Amino acid sequence: MTGFPDDRMERILLTEDQIAGAVSALGSRITADYAGRDPVLITVLKGGSFFLADLVRAVELPLTMDFMAISAYRPQAAGAVAITKDLADPIEGRDVLMVEDIIDTGLTLNYLLKVLRQRKPASLTVCTLLDKDVRRLVDLPIEYRGFSVPDRFLVGYGLDLDGLWRNVRYIATLKDEVWEGT
Ligand code: IMP
Ligand code: MG
Repeated sequence: MTGFPDDRMERILLTEDQIAGAVSALGSRITADYAGRDPVLITVLKGGSFFLADLVRAVELPLTMDFMAISAYRPQAAGAVAITKDLADPIEGRDVLMVEDIIDTGLTLNYLLKVLRQRKPASLTVCTLLDKDVRRLVDLPIEYRGFSVPDRFLVGYGLDLDGLWRNVRYIATLKDEVWEGT
C-alpha cells in the first residue's frame, strides 16, 4: 500500500522507511541505556500499540509490556482523563518506559506520569515517536523522540481520526477542511 488510500489525506509526512529507521535508532539507544535491566514498556491504547509493537522488537533486553486505556481525547478536560483500563501489573521498583505515539499539548501524558509516579517506579522515562512540540502547554521530560512534527492533524501508524486510518503504514497529513472541524 503506497498510494493515498483516501482523498481526504494531503501528503505523506513520514514514509514507512523513515518510521522504521527512527524505531530502529530508538531501540538501539534504549538497549544501550537500559543494559542489565528489565524495563516495562507501557503505552496508551489504542494509538500507541503500533509503535510499541515495533519498538519492543528493536530492543534487545528482557522487557515486559503493559497497557492502559483512557477516555477520549478532550482538550478542554485539561488532561484529567479517566483511566478506563489500568495496568495489569504493579510498577513499584520497575524501570518504566512510557511509550507514546504522539505528544501534542502534553496534558494527557503529564496527567498519566503523575499517576504512575505515585506508584513508586525505580525510574520513569518517556519515549515518543512524534513530538508536536509547538503545541506544548506543559513542560515534559522527553528522553527519546523520533520526530518533531508540525501542527497538522496526522493519521496513520496508529494515529486516527474517528477511529479510521490507524492501519495505514505511513503517517500522512489531512487536508485542512477535514481536520479543522476536529
Ligand atoms: P495531548 O494531551 O494534547 O498531548 O494529546 C495527545 C493525544 O492526542 C495523542 O495521544 C493522540 O491520541 C491525540 N492526538 C494529538 N495529535 C494528534 C494527531 O495529529 N492525530 C491523531 N491523534 C492526535
Ligand atoms: Mg494517544
